[in-house]
Amino acid sequence: MSETQTPAISLRGVNREFRRPRTSLTGTPAVVHAVRDVSLDIQPGERFGLVGESGSGKSTLLKMISGLDRPTSGEIHIEGQPIHDRSVRKLRWLRRRLQLVFQDPMGSLDPRMRIREIIAEPLAAQGIPRGDKINELLERVGMSTDAARRFPHQFSGGQRQRISVARALAPDPHILVADEPVSALDVSVRAQVLNLIDEVVDGFDLTLVFVSHDLSVVRHVCDRVAVMRAGEIVEVGTTEQLYEDPQHAYTQQLLASVPRLSEALAGASAAQLAARTRAALAGSGAQDEADVAALAEEGARADAGAAGGGGVPAEDIRHDRHEDEGGTIG
Ligand SMILES: Nc1ncnc2c1ncn2[C@@H]1O[C@H](COP(=O)(O)OP(=O)(O)O)[C@@H](O)[C@H]1O
Ligand SMILES: [Mg+2]
Repeated sequence: MSETQTPAISLRGVNREFRRPRTSLTGTPAVVHAVRDVSLDIQPGERFGLVGESGSGKSTLLKMISGLDRPTSGEIHIEGQPIHDRSVRKLRWLRRRLQLVFQDPMGSLDPRMRIREIIAEPLAAQGIPRGDKINELLERVGMSTDAARRFPHQFSGGQRQRISVARALAPDPHILVADEPVSALDVSVRAQVLNLIDEVVDGFDLTLVFVSHDLSVVRHVCDRVAVMRAGEIVEVGTTEQLYEDPQHAYTQQLLASVPRLSEALAGASAAQLAARTRAALAGSGAQDEADVAALAEEGARADAGAAGGGGVPAEDIRHDRHEDEGGTIG
């Protein structure tokens, strides 16, 4: 990445304070400092992860990046344009550059709208002709085109998240922001939605900002990761650096306490995980990746069986990461 490139997202000294209502007449209102002095550049094409425990300020930071909330102080630029001092009304252009996917697709898809209308909404808002775009987008996210005339409740959680991704892609954004996009999904469909995000980020040349409290999920899709704690970024590094040689005690603690994706998917034993970590450290990334893919597939099959066909369609599990990344997924 060249030094002179304009960052996709640039934050300088960003703070966000919330005032809590007073609990007594004499008391002063409590102030929650949700985001503290965050400075960060995310380059075009980067897949940037933000991890941290619940309440650490991840969503608040994303909302500010997306122009849905304004910082108390500090500056935010998207593709070189300031957004920190603009009202939502003045940020319509931003929706064409930056789109969001949220945790709960049921909450973010209007239940009264047909899928066709849901996907067309951002197109209409931007005055973009819809043409054949809705069918193309549905196919792109692995849905059949007859989904267009149905309603959100007629789909499984994983399918609804696919629809959310289609809607986000509709205005051809440059930046995709995802806030815990798989956290509300059944374990058995998480890998599928992660793979979809992986694919569209590649296929549409997107910059990705991906938030999760789950480090294993972030590792799966991101190439650089920031760790947030109590509103502050305590560590930023490449995924490899951060997972294999965490510098900050808090990152080490987080890593030690979080089950890895493969474990979540396949119920791998601690011994298996430890062996895989050793293999990864020894640099046998490709082998590890193949193992993890196999385990994930196994786990998903087991889960699908255990769920007794509980409404989740069997979709393909794919772990087709690019070989040149040489990273490990786990
Ligand atoms: N609109 C709000 N009003 C008051 N406090 C808020 C608001 N939004 C978030 N907070 C507080 O800011 C902190 C960070 O929240 P959030 O960004 O949602 O964290 P995360 O997404 O990491 O779970 C929490 O203490 C939360 O209670
Ligand atoms: Mg959140």
